[in-house]
Amino acid sequence: MRILVTGGCGFIGSHFIRRMLERNTISKIFNLDLLTYSGHLGNLSDISDDRYEFVHGSINNYDLLEELLIDNRVDIVVNFAAESHVDRSIHSVGKFIETNVQGTGCILDAIVNSRTSNRSISLVHVSTDEVYGSLGPNDDPFTEETPLDPKNPYAASKASSDFLVLSYVNTHSISACITRCSNNYGPNQFPEKLIPLMTLNCLDGKKLPIYGDGLQIRDWINVKDHVDGIISIVELMNEGALDTGEIINFGADNERTNLDIVKEIIEISGVKGSEIEYVRDRPGHDRRYAMGFKKAKNLLGWEPKVDWRTGIFETIMWYKDNTEWIESIKSNQYRDWIDTQYGPE
Ligand code: NAD
Ligand code: TYD
Repeated sequence: MRILVTGGCGFIGSHFIRRMLERNTISKIFNLDLLTYSGHLGNLSDISDDRYEFVHGSINNYDLLEELLIDNRVDIVVNFAAESHVDRSIHSVGKFIETNVQGTGCILDAIVNSRTSNRSISLVHVSTDEVYGSLGPNDDPFTEETPLDPKNPYAASKASSDFLVLSYVNTHSISACITRCSNNYGPNQFPEKLIPLMTLNCLDGKKLPIYGDGLQIRDWINVKDHVDGIISIVELMNEGALDTGEIINFGADNERTNLDIVKEIIEISGVKGSEIEYVRDRPGHDRRYAMGFKKAKNLLGWEPKVDWRTGIFETIMWYKDNTEWIESIKSNQYRDWIDTQYGPE
């Protein structure tokens, strides 16, 4: 199987590549990444495997995509490339439309135009639970049948890309699957998201900025479990054993409030001196996400395996031990973002 991964230098994509290379089903992985602020070559710099090749470029570059798909006889594209942070999408949506919507469109066109009568190219499009909107405290978890109701610009851009993929399944008969997953945590996550941001602030003895009352709920899944689910899908698609147009949810049955998470980070990090600070709430803040994943269980035999306490402990220790990685991603751009979002120190 020859795969084109997009956005493989980001958090989830880099874990996917690492674990996919452990499988003997793979003969080649190309990783097309633009190396935006959240993409980091260091996430994969220790990989020395002839089956892996990095390509610097954008999913918005149609000619490059077509060349990669045709010249390298790619079987499956796994699309992780995205602008992925809600708060940034609230400041400005342009890049989200460019990458998440237009970029996905570009991949779809390249797939349609690069396939031949005897060779199809499949797509796994990695999406998010946020496309379903927000749940009330007593609502059942989202299922694949929950109508889409995105409530922030990031979620709206991802929902648009999902609709584009489904429209290409219908109109151009491409083979595609959409995955929707809850909030991931683990090593290598860019420290603009809750868990790495709070961990680094805690280790640095800085304030811990909780939006609103901190009682918003997310269903936290370890990144290893998420990528194992995607790997099952890729392998099934390669065998032709998955219907086109399938949508598959991944979750972990692990609902926690932001406040509880931050208290746990303080406790595990063992550093004294950081204090919780309640700050202005995120505009249009989704209150609760929870994912039903019966379909993934039935269709893939998939279940989340990593115990939360073990996973969060390992994650915090990873940030504690990897100071070189942390220093290398704390660019001027990163400091500018922290000043924009939380005010200058
Ligand atoms: P990330 O921000 O860590 O990584 C995104 C990667 O995409 C980076 O390496 C970046 O350089 C690359 N990229 C951005 N624009 C590009 C372009 N035009 N061309 C090529 N590469 C480009 O994001 P992540 O957390 O790893 O998320 C990956 C995917 O998973 C996203 O589609 C996101 O919507 C989805 N997702 C994330 C979560 C989560 O909790 N992080 C949960 C569910 C779904
Ligand atoms: P985040 O990691 O940005 O993921 P998402 O918005 O995709 O769920 O945020 C997770 C939760 O943590 C969300 O409810 C917002 C909250 N949060 C804070 O309270 N403070 C912060 O500084 C950040 C980054 C997030």
